[in-house]
Amino acid sequence: MNVLVTGRIPDDVLALIKKEHNVEINTHDRPMDREKILSNIIDKDGILCMITDRIDKELLDKAQHLKIIANFGVGFNNIDVKAATERKIPVSNTPGILTDATADLTFALILASGRRVVEGDKLTRAGKFKYWAPLLFLGHEVTGKTLGIVGMGRIGRAVAKRALGFDMKVIYTKPKRLERSEEKALNIEYVDFETLLEESDFVSLHVPLVPETRHLIGENELKLMKPSSFLINTSRGPVVDETALLNVLKNKVIKGAGLDVYENEPELTSGLIDLDNVVLLPHVGSGTIETRTKMALMATENLLAGLNGEIPPNCLNCDDLIGR
Ligand code: DGY
Repeated sequence: MNVLVTGRIPDDVLALIKKEHNVEINTHDRPMDREKILSNIIDKDGILCMITDRIDKELLDKAQHLKIIANFGVGFNNIDVKAATERKIPVSNTPGILTDATADLTFALILASGRRVVEGDKLTRAGKFKYWAPLLFLGHEVTGKTLGIVGMGRIGRAVAKRALGFDMKVIYTKPKRLERSEEKALNIEYVDFETLLEESDFVSLHVPLVPETRHLIGENELKLMKPSSFLINTSRGPVVDETALLNVLKNKVIKGAGLDVYENEPELTSGLIDLDNVVLLPHVGSGTIETRTKMALMATENLLAGLNGEIPPNCLNCDDLIGR
């Protein structure tokens, strides 16, 4: 069968697909051109796509042979799952395996923004470390502070686990409160959204991007946060109104931010790079050799299952497809 792989994946994983199928692959590390995907998809039976590819009605209408959409990523806001379901095409993602890597990076951003790691590195490289003094270049302690987690799915829980090692008080909010026994096991406390914003020293976002979470954090929410607090985002950029964030950072309404994702990725709101009180990363939450290799394997297993007419292990819409 014919397969399109829109991003570069490890050779040994690609070989598993090539063993059984004709593969067209993007050999570059930049996203495949949209027009190229649209013209290539016409004769394809399967696509292993990246989170940067828009799999929408326009594409699906051209893909008359498509039997599986295997997303390389857990977030699938790039895919019109409803439109795929209407066309009876299974869609899969890569849940679970990137939880720890993303939680680790969340903590890297908490520490980097609180303790001014990037600023300190720049200062030292610039030859401006001239002497030690008790009150110079102070940051904010992380240990013992309050961490507010918005969304308590797999990644939120993994972040909460790490926070306990830093003796942090962890509060969380989500539409459906966890069982009390789970809260107890995780040592976390449920609060409403407003209270979380008002009481946290670090607010960390772990929600999927859906219509209800677009601009979940805007000017009003940012203004509820403490002047000494930090916003951390490793979820999806559009969850935060980036212009509002830029303004509060400029005007020191909050202390700082740590961002791995952006509203119009890979574009950044103009002015953001000029600020010292924000740490900026290039969407690398899951970016470790170990995790990206596992993601490639999982996406490939989903792809191969779909091509074989089987239910992909991580199918997002198979219950709907088989009418369960
Ligand atoms: C995902 O999987 O959704 C991440 O954002 C990319 O690793």
